[in-house]
Amino acid sequence: MTPVSTHASSLGRLNHVAIAVLDAVKAARIYGALGAKVSAPVPLPEHGVITVFVDLPNTKIEFIEPLGDSSPIAKFLERSPDGGIHHLCYEVTDILAARDRLVQEGARILGDGEPRIGAHGKPVLFLHPKDFSGALIELEQA
Ligand code: CO
Repeated sequence: MTPVSTHASSLGRLNHVAIAVLDAVKAARIYGALGAKVSAPVPLPEHGVITVFVDLPNTKIEFIEPLGDSSPIAKFLERSPDGGIHHLCYEVTDILAARDRLVQEGARILGDGEPRIGAHGKPVLFLHPKDFSGALIELEQA
């Protein structure tokens, strides 16, 4: 049987699930009540969001709140003012190799196609939901 992928850049663990909300600190509070470790809010002006991280043993929940007038999550929150799952982030060993492979397969990379530094100080890319079963996907170099 031929493996589906033999490429060296392999898909790794689920780094985080991002939930868009109007107030990230407030949203994370209930996780703190359940005993999870909750971070202080971290503004990411380059991404137009404020983030609050909830550390779980096997992944993170990342609450994202709009920052500034042209936040990329503003439209999402107009449609879902109570909040909702916004994207999933998977780790990859080599983000440029992963990107090139996806482009070869006809997948669409959002923005200018170049990785930007994400919430954890590592290069990230966002992939079009139409290529991923309706889910917005973030890749983060592990
Ligand atoms: Co993210």
